[in-house]
Amino acid sequence: MAKPYYVTTPIYYVNDKPHIGHAYTSLATDVLARWKRLEGQEVFFLTGTDEHGQKVEKAAQDAGMDPQEFTDRVSQSFRVLADRMGFSHDDFIRTTEPRHKAACQELWRRLAARDEIYLGAYEGWYAVRDEAFYGPDELTERDGVKYAPSGAPVAWVKEPSYFFRLSKWQDWLLQYYEDNRRFIAPESRRNEVISFIKGGLSDLSISRTSFRWGIPVPGDAAHVMYVWLDALTNYITAAGFPDEGHPRWKFWPADVHFVGKDIIRFHTIYWPAFLEAAGLAPPRRVFAHGWWTNEGQKISKSLGNVIDPLALIEEYGLDPVRYFLLREVPFGNDGDFSRAALAGRTNGELADALGNLANRTLSLIQRNCEGKLPAPLENPHLMHDTTLHSGISDLREKVGKALEDQQFHSALEHIMFEVRYANSYITQMAPWALKKTDPVLMSQVLRLLHDALRVFGTVLQPFMPTTMDALLDQLGVPKNQRQLADLATPLPGGIPLPPPSPLFRKIELAA
Ligand code: MSP
Repeated sequence: MAKPYYVTTPIYYVNDKPHIGHAYTSLATDVLARWKRLEGQEVFFLTGTDEHGQKVEKAAQDAGMDPQEFTDRVSQSFRVLADRMGFSHDDFIRTTEPRHKAACQELWRRLAARDEIYLGAYEGWYAVRDEAFYGPDELTERDGVKYAPSGAPVAWVKEPSYFFRLSKWQDWLLQYYEDNRRFIAPESRRNEVISFIKGGLSDLSISRTSFRWGIPVPGDAAHVMYVWLDALTNYITAAGFPDEGHPRWKFWPADVHFVGKDIIRFHTIYWPAFLEAAGLAPPRRVFAHGWWTNEGQKISKSLGNVIDPLALIEEYGLDPVRYFLLREVPFGNDGDFSRAALAGRTNGELADALGNLANRTLSLIQRNCEGKLPAPLENPHLMHDTTLHSGISDLREKVGKALEDQQFHSALEHIMFEVRYANSYITQMAPWALKKTDPVLMSQVLRLLHDALRVFGTVLQPFMPTTMDALLDQLGVPKNQRQLADLATPLPGGIPLPPPSPLFRKIELAA
């Protein structure tokens, strides 16, 4: 039997409230999780919040709050986001939970027992905003301040620290990438990581002594664990680590970790090295997506152009936003958010192409077929136009292939291609004119269009769960027959269909 499927989002820093970038990573994860469930797989979908470290401690101080109280509050806003975005996660982990502390400390003990950790002193540059160490050659200087490549200011740090023997894993990592060609995606990121490693890896500082907000190092409470060691471990904590008899341990290793391009090194270098060094299996794949800009500008708090995903779905509706984010930009590339583009996609593809197709077809069935589904096509291959029939028969497989590679935009393009074709088919066949001249052909045309809509509604469920639920209701598809495998069984003719109602609202932009 295939291993059950495990997908994760990054766990989000609770230094600030959620924005569009957080919603985006989780949305991709949600769609893949839903697709796998639709295929009939057992899925574990994990998300959560990253609550330790200097950055969060500082945000709590700035808010004049105790860090635990502060993280309780901000973590809650990420749950609210997940809820409003319709995410279907199976667990929401917080790194301040006792189960996570236990997992981190056990991982540490295993690394120490295998002589992968030694005590030393760290002296070098650190960026609190990235929670990352940088070498001097990576920095640039402006007005006497040094900056990391991410734009975060760095400060000189000197303190006792434990180190992980990362340098010794250099060759192993390169070999792992070679043997597992799918491990880092997209390909351009893979090359970037490989050349970074070829530049040489130093041992990694994995504990801090200059602040307290973290998980204590076992046996040396003067140190707290480096927040990235703590954070990455969340993926095994939730799978039950260290209890390998835990019912969720069967999910490990993760099938896909979704991350933004800014955190790829942590996931593709440190994480597999920690795991391999501790005798645990590394994850199977890390996909790094690009970043969004807002109407052409970098998103930043200081520019005041942060996009609040809750406001967006309030204004435009959840499913159009979900659709837009994955449709507009090839997954992996950077993309620009604009209201005009959102309106264009919603109006052109959802309201006009898909929504009208459903409405025209279902209204004609109401009017001309007494509201009953016409009989299944006995031999669709004998119909004069077989393109639509073969197009929808292959669609599930095409979408599945695209999603196997996390190419959400091409999955949606395959679907839209058939939707557009179905629209030209209805125009060309003009079933409204056939009632008197050829009622048999009219029924066949409407049935073929109904079959097409059922395929669209089924494969689009992961992207737009609420609206596709409504579409499948209008199509008369029973709730327990909405899996991909159910598409192989035609619905019986004669079932009564409810009167249709519009699925999408057009967006009108103020001039
Ligand atoms: N806490 C770490 C992750 C630890 S995972 C073991 C972290 N958190 S974060 O909250 O800062 O970022 C979470 C994700 O949001 C990252 O994947 C990041 O790429 C993504 N985004 C932040 N801003 C973004 C955009 N403007 N556009 C798209 N995604 C962006 O990093």
